[in-house]
Amino acid sequence: MSSNKNLLILPGDGIGPEVMGQVRRVIDWMDKRRAVTFDVSEDLVGGAAIDAHGTPLHDKTMDQAMNADAVLLGAVGGPKWDELPFEQKPERGLLRLRKEMQLYANLRPAIVFDALVEASTLKPEIVQGLDILIVRELTGGVYFGEPRGVEELPDGQRRGVNTQVYTTNEIRRVAAVAFELARKRGNKLTSLEKANVMESGVLWRQEVTKLHKESYADVDLEHMYADNGAMQLVRNPKQFDVMVTDNLFGDILSDEAAMLTGSLGMLPSASLGDIDETGRRKSLYEPVHGSAPDIAGQALANPLATLLSFAMSLRYTYDLAEDAELIEKAVQKVLADGKRTADIMSPGATRLSTGQMGDALLAELDAMAA
Ligand code: IPM
Ligand code: MG
Repeated sequence: MSSNKNLLILPGDGIGPEVMGQVRRVIDWMDKRRAVTFDVSEDLVGGAAIDAHGTPLHDKTMDQAMNADAVLLGAVGGPKWDELPFEQKPERGLLRLRKEMQLYANLRPAIVFDALVEASTLKPEIVQGLDILIVRELTGGVYFGEPRGVEELPDGQRRGVNTQVYTTNEIRRVAAVAFELARKRGNKLTSLEKANVMESGVLWRQEVTKLHKESYADVDLEHMYADNGAMQLVRNPKQFDVMVTDNLFGDILSDEAAMLTGSLGMLPSASLGDIDETGRRKSLYEPVHGSAPDIAGQALANPLATLLSFAMSLRYTYDLAEDAELIEKAVQKVLADGKRTADIMSPGATRLSTGQMGDALLAELDAMAA
């Protein structure tokens, strides 16, 4: 029996394959220099899968994902597939993975690297040292709620419907993940909803409060309306430690938090499910940035978010915190040395292509492991 760690790589569309190429190099490096070996398989998702199989996620790929220790995904989507009917769009491949693997907890850290303080559109003193974590519910809410659809009305108008729906357990399980993570960090959790206008928001607040009393009274819990949260994120983001919120608010707030750091090209994410009987937690890791079709194929993409997503998999799935730290430190060092891809370029820095950023990171890893 092989004890190798198994990993399914789904590069996807746009810049996905380019940035994933750099992860491959780090995986080879770990094999050689750290004696950590992965069984890597690779498959299609999104537009690439539509072109090959006529579906954004082939059943065989879904099976592979269910059986992998972890899935590492690049990005999906692009103008080529924008006109397809909703159910056939590249994004559906990603949503199916999240739903069927039951990856209900989406961890989106927003960290401002010292070297990149100037890249933020906010004043340096507002973002310097920022380190927050958004925990976004990922398998429920308006993304999946029924009824949904567009219907014709008798008077010839059309009516579009989506449904925001949450159950006790859906709220409790994601809140529990957020409380646990808060304990390991600054011990503060902010829960966000719109309890002032939505019943599902009232339930959310009640259930989080109840769970807090039952099991996490030691964590400092605060409730906030999501619109206020959006405002506080740009006013004074350092007031937050861990934030937990629903699928749609989490989608929006995590993009906002990402921009505090100056570049979407820097931000990793982890999506986690429950731990099963065998002790394994289903997990998928992906950069927060999209497929960026406008720069695809030009070696301009920043591979660091994907490399940091791989580092998150080392920490959360493979129990290799030391190796995760090695990669994270190497990223910091490369940035501190003034090496930049186009998206984070600043005056006086050295501009690198995607592959050159990979070279720089590997050189740093070599130096650190020597
Ligand atoms: C994200 C993206 C996705 C989402 C899209 C691509 C379906 O915006 O991961 O934040 O809305 O969840
Ligand atoms: Mg989004």
